[in-house]
Amino acid sequence: MCGIIGYIGSKNVVSVLLDGLKKLEYRGYDSAGIAVVNGNRIQVRRVKGKISSLEKSLQEKPIRGSYGVGHTRWATHGRPSEDNAHPHRDCTGTLVVVHNGIIENYLSLKEKLNKEGHRFRTETDTEVIAHLIEKYYNSSLEKAVQKAIKRLEGAFAIAVLSTKESGKIVAAKVGPPAVVGLGKKEFFISSDINPLLSHTQKVVFLEDKEIVVIKGDGAKFFDFEGKSLEKKADHISWSPLMVEKRGFKHFMLKEIFEQPQVVRDTLNGRMSLDSGKVLLDEIGISPQILKNIKKVIIIACGTSYHAGLVGKYLIESLVQIPVDVEFASEYRYRDFILDKEDLVIVISQSGETADSLAALRAVKKKKPSSLAICNVVNSSISREAEGVLYTHAGPEIGVAATKTFSAQMAALALFSLYLAQIKRRINRKESLSYLQDLQRVPHKMEKILNQTDFLQKLSLQFSSFSHFLYLGRWINFPIALEGALKLKEISYIHAEGYPGGEMKHGPIALIDEKMPTLAIVPKDRVYEKMLSNLSEIKTRIGYILAVAFENDKEIHKKVDIVIPIPSVNPLFTPFLTTLPLQLFAYYIASIRGADVDQPRNLAKSVTVE
Ligand code: F6R
Repeated sequence: MCGIIGYIGSKNVVSVLLDGLKKLEYRGYDSAGIAVVNGNRIQVRRVKGKISSLEKSLQEKPIRGSYGVGHTRWATHGRPSEDNAHPHRDCTGTLVVVHNGIIENYLSLKEKLNKEGHRFRTETDTEVIAHLIEKYYNSSLEKAVQKAIKRLEGAFAIAVLSTKESGKIVAAKVGPPAVVGLGKKEFFISSDINPLLSHTQKVVFLEDKEIVVIKGDGAKFFDFEGKSLEKKADHISWSPLMVEKRGFKHFMLKEIFEQPQVVRDTLNGRMSLDSGKVLLDEIGISPQILKNIKKVIIIACGTSYHAGLVGKYLIESLVQIPVDVEFASEYRYRDFILDKEDLVIVISQSGETADSLAALRAVKKKKPSSLAICNVVNSSISREAEGVLYTHAGPEIGVAATKTFSAQMAALALFSLYLAQIKRRINRKESLSYLQDLQRVPHKMEKILNQTDFLQKLSLQFSSFSHFLYLGRWINFPIALEGALKLKEISYIHAEGYPGGEMKHGPIALIDEKMPTLAIVPKDRVYEKMLSNLSEIKTRIGYILAVAFENDKEIHKKVDIVIPIPSVNPLFTPFLTTLPLQLFAYYIASIRGADVDQPRNLAKSVTVE
């Protein structure tokens, strides 16, 4: 939540900051601002609203400078307004701060600083940082930052500049991510790598309790005690093109269409169709340890939680060990019981979700094995878990997760087969057959994506409804939840995901002609059961759209509209059933004129509790 950016170099600083903020906008978009240093003056421009409003304001009344910082906000303390937008200033106006995170003790700090004569202009927690640094500032900005951050409780990634020390940006972090871009005579600080890709692929990830001092001739790293640190630079393989729309109307649509390739990329090099083996030595947890795993606990939030539920069905079917799937925000506060022979899997696209990270830290105290499934390389969760299995989805910009969900399911399918193999729960022949089925999945996904006209028309027909019910059973129950979540978050239509068999225990009371049902009915072990559930709906005049196998003739007699998908091994149906539901949500949201890539009230990377 919130994105920060800083730049020192010879390019037009306002353009670099604006461009960077556009790439960080998925992190928050209720207000934005930049501050640039022009000689010994700081020029600040802040607006309520999106980066496009900031851009417009800067076009109408340009500001210039030689280096600067910028911010895109997802409000936590203080409503979205121009005053509460970052950057925030100290009393003198010679120092500004941008901040991602939450300062939990800001009220007590504010009271003390007020008594000392500091004058506050905003409702934000961030402003205390500016005044604290002002308080400690003698001649070195980094020393003042060092002293100030020791007084802060909570989470922060900050970038600070002061006209008293020209040509310098100081950044520090505890919690939210911060990455330093090392270009040719130009240097950056950013909340993630996306804004850096068009300038440099050489980066240094800042660890917690580290400070970086960026100048026009380089970046120097220190710990919070001021001790100098040697940091190794990483090379990022993502390309700048990956963060462009490339002809699609929205990032979300582009990312939906990328899914076959993303699944291929996540499977690639990790399975052998000659030996029938899954090759996952890379994950950093030894086969010996995995062999003794008795139980798996999957922890995640949102869409990643739904992928975790799919993982539960996969692991239980293939490995035959118990699996619990938990919301990170709940689990971290539970009196959970874990054994050393348990495996905790934390799934997170960003690898930065505050609740998932906190849950990982809490479970580690009980010493189970821990595996992260993350998309962002070097993210906090991927660094802090014992092992990591990366999804190869590339950067996801649309706030609603789509391609990373498919990539997470691919990683989970691989991991389930790997564990089954290690525990000798499947033989070579069975393993080979699963791997062959899995390998065919991306092509089948392409077939669905090549026939979207029908779904577009269907979406038009249903775009004015206010309520939808999504039903699935067994491994497609999580897809019902995910389909409903997609519709809710991007079109603001009420939708409920439910297991088909639970309908008669209450929700069936909702059914009438105004609440259509989207049912997921592939030919699997619960097919007949789903048909009975659907009959119960039909007799109550409910309208049913069913995602079903294209070779299923019977289903046409039971429902109003069939959305066909190719047939596939039942365990891998979620890869296919997900796609029509994502597209349905996308087209409906688009028809209703909703802001698909940046739905209201949301932010992609939820780095606060
Ligand atoms: C929904 C969505 C969110 C995220 C959730 C977890 O479309 O994107 O529900 O799935 O915030 O985020 P990560 O996976 O980054 O931990």
